[in-house]
Amino acid sequence: MKSILFLVGSLRAESLNRRLARVAATNLPDGYEAAFFDLNDVPFYNEDLKGHAPESVLALRESIRSADGVFWATPEYNYALPGIVKNAIDWTTRPMLPQHPIVGKPMNAAVATNSATNGIRSLSDLKRIWANCGGVPVTTFDFVLQLAQSKFIEQDGIETIEPTSMGVLRFAIDSLARAIEGEAGAVAVANWTARFGAA
Ligand code: FNR
Repeated sequence: MKSILFLVGSLRAESLNRRLARVAATNLPDGYEAAFFDLNDVPFYNEDLKGHAPESVLALRESIRSADGVFWATPEYNYALPGIVKNAIDWTTRPMLPQHPIVGKPMNAAVATNSATNGIRSLSDLKRIWANCGGVPVTTFDFVLQLAQSKFIEQDGIETIEPTSMGVLRFAIDSLARAIEGEAGAVAVANWTARFGAA
């Protein structure tokens, strides 16, 4: 069984992105299971804590390291990635050496927004940063669920999203599974090792 870790870039209980992550998690391909990590307890990054990372940070790092792939569902805040997402990435990449948990890790993402026109900048920020940190973002067919508040429906007592959007979300998850099963992760690790040495 392979695992996909779901991370949500909003802390609020009624978050559209949390709801979207739950929909994605209940629609995984055969042979995959979902894990969740809640970012509520992760403090702001502080380099004074170098070598003494809080428990929540150690748990975050371990949850990424042990997952086969990561799926982010995040809002866009003021035309960029929310601070809590960037903060989680900053903690995860320190210590950087010999090999932090993002190196070689396949990742895909979705943005749920109440806007009719925005959201893509958060997604492209996230994928660019993930790639620059040595991770493996799925770069084809970005998924932004615009006017998200009107897209959720109930089917047989289970929350899902309307069929056209659901088709694109399924494609995003299946693309992540293909990235997990492909060679790109190993190539990214090999590049890291060539630059910084073996873990
Ligand atoms: C927003 N929102 C927003 N939406 C967007 O598409 N582009 C943006 O730049 C912004 N900027 C922004 C800034 C701040 C501080 C907030 C609080 C909100 C609206 C956003 O899409 C909406 O609040 C979502 O519902 C947030 O996601 P969750 O919390 O529902 O997951």
